[in-house]
Amino acid sequence: MPIYSEELLNEIISQNDIIDYVSQYVRLKKNGRDYTGLCPFHNEKSPSFHVNQEKQLFHCFGCGAGGNIVQFVMKSEGLDFVEAIKLMADRAGIPLPEENDAAGDVLYRKKQRIYLMNKTAARFYYETLTKSHDGKPGLEYFAERRISGRTITKYGLGYAPDSFDYLKSHMNENGFKDDELIEAGLCVTKNNKVYDKFRGRVIFPIIDLRGNVIAFGGRIIKNTDTTSDGYKPPKYLNSSDTPVFNKGNNLFSLNFAKKTAEKQCILCEGYMDVISVCQAGVTNITATLGTALTESQARLLMKYTGEILLCYDSDEAGQRATKRAISIINGVGGRCRVMKLKGAKDPDEYIKANGVELFRRVMQDALPSTQFLLSVIKSRYDLDNPDGRIKFVQESASVLAKLQNAIEIDEYVNRISDETEIAKDAIYAELKKLKASVKIKTGPLRTIKTEQSAKRAGDDSKIISAQRRLLSLIIESKKNYRAVKDEFSPEDFSTDALQKLASAVYSAYENGEHIDPALIISHFSGSDADVVSKIFCNLETYNDENNTVAQLLQSIKSDRLNEKILNEKDAVKLRELLIQRQKLEGKK
Ligand code: UTP
Ligand code: MN
Repeated sequence: MPIYSEELLNEIISQNDIIDYVSQYVRLKKNGRDYTGLCPFHNEKSPSFHVNQEKQLFHCFGCGAGGNIVQFVMKSEGLDFVEAIKLMADRAGIPLPEENDAAGDVLYRKKQRIYLMNKTAARFYYETLTKSHDGKPGLEYFAERRISGRTITKYGLGYAPDSFDYLKSHMNENGFKDDELIEAGLCVTKNNKVYDKFRGRVIFPIIDLRGNVIAFGGRIIKNTDTTSDGYKPPKYLNSSDTPVFNKGNNLFSLNFAKKTAEKQCILCEGYMDVISVCQAGVTNITATLGTALTESQARLLMKYTGEILLCYDSDEAGQRATKRAISIINGVGGRCRVMKLKGAKDPDEYIKANGVELFRRVMQDALPSTQFLLSVIKSRYDLDNPDGRIKFVQESASVLAKLQNAIEIDEYVNRISDETEIAKDAIYAELKKLKASVKIKTGPLRTIKTEQSAKRAGDDSKIISAQRRLLSLIIESKKNYRAVKDEFSPEDFSTDALQKLASAVYSAYENGEHIDPALIISHFSGSDADVVSKIFCNLETYNDENNTVAQLLQSIKSDRLNEKILNEKDAVKLRELLIQRQKLEGKK
């Protein structure tokens, strides 16, 4: 069995999102702090399967199964640990070391190095724009586009002067070598020469959810015509994919948008759209990175919002892209509506011309995606003419055939029937024909009955269950930890799993480290992982937490004492224990 370093395993776990993965197989619904759904590991009618995004854990309160993403993959796909790790690494684009080599660590270091290069470059572009004379053309450009100084700072916008080595020399001076700059996508080679990728462009840093600069977009600021050799530089240039960046997996400004996007989030096409709309006060907006929306981006966005509002350019290409995006979003189980910008090319133009109030109204008036698709079809046919009506109904039926909800389908069938005077039954007949030809997708998920599920209910002795609750509370807050730590140490817990978990948690607190459930649980397997996930995913809430901690501690200590008393054969020691019990009970 290959040995992967702890660092590499942590990287693999943290680069895969559990909600993202699980929602391919389980229909998850946001429910308070958790996502819930029907457990894939046992048969149930009401959802007791919980997934927690923050903790990156799942736990089923029905059958008791639980763990992190790797453990989910093992259980659901029936894979062993190494196979599951391979699958997850592959999914995150992380190459695994060949047996016994340290490639994983090499990659990890390389990524850290690229993050550092990107951060250094972003700061340099920003300072060039805001503090250097060389940044003047960039500042003038942003002023012309009515981008404020505050916005420049918020987004860390920058400027790359029109020079072949402006960035390169700065980076070289800071110890970054040419081949590193190329690998980070900051420089390119041509005719054996290394020069800056971004020249004469304003710079938009692309920042991931953890705050790392992962790539850049750059917009040309001069209107350039085709040069004599037939070359016309593109208006926007984006970093190519690197070990830390994949265009199809990230979204522009999601790091800001996610804070206000719980209900809905706008998805548009351009960096400038996002920045301009955001500056006007609508902050739940994000954009793709120069390519069409991918499934992975749709899933990513859906983790942060209940509803996507598509706001693409109003031209023909934008409308085509809208249809594609709807199909991608619906395909991964998301909901979206479509905003209609009247008299403007894109959100940036619209909000500048009409102001934020009208823009918010456009958000409100956004059409549900089905209605949008039907209206596009309708606009192409003449409903006064029988042939037009028939084609309209046929094409509309193919849109409705993809819907799941019978009430929704009926609503639209009614409308179409009214508009065309074609009988509802005829439309339904058309739908039935289409539905029959749609193959039902089946996922690779197997329903596995865990053996434990049967005996689960009764196996928590009172003592152990109190200890689990206490440990949950300790994990919940450092305050609780402080109240317990001197009275009850990891070795005092009754099972190996609880001792091991407690000692990981205690030592994280002592070392001032963040408690990362998904990483801690990777040290547990089988039913121990189930127990640990239950402790992390504890749903109990307490009115008076301090008091609960004190009571639990008291009762656990007295249980332990009673256990000792029962087993003690030595009369002297027994006397001591009995005195201890008297004292403890006197405290109550
Ligand atoms: P648009 O051409 O619609 O530009 O490109 P825009 O957002 O309105 O930009 P401004 O207002 O002219 O500055 C939308 C997005 O498509 C990608 C970029 O990500 C851009 O933000 N794009 C566009 C490219 O990647 N390359 C291009 O040459 C053009
Ligand atoms: Mn524009």
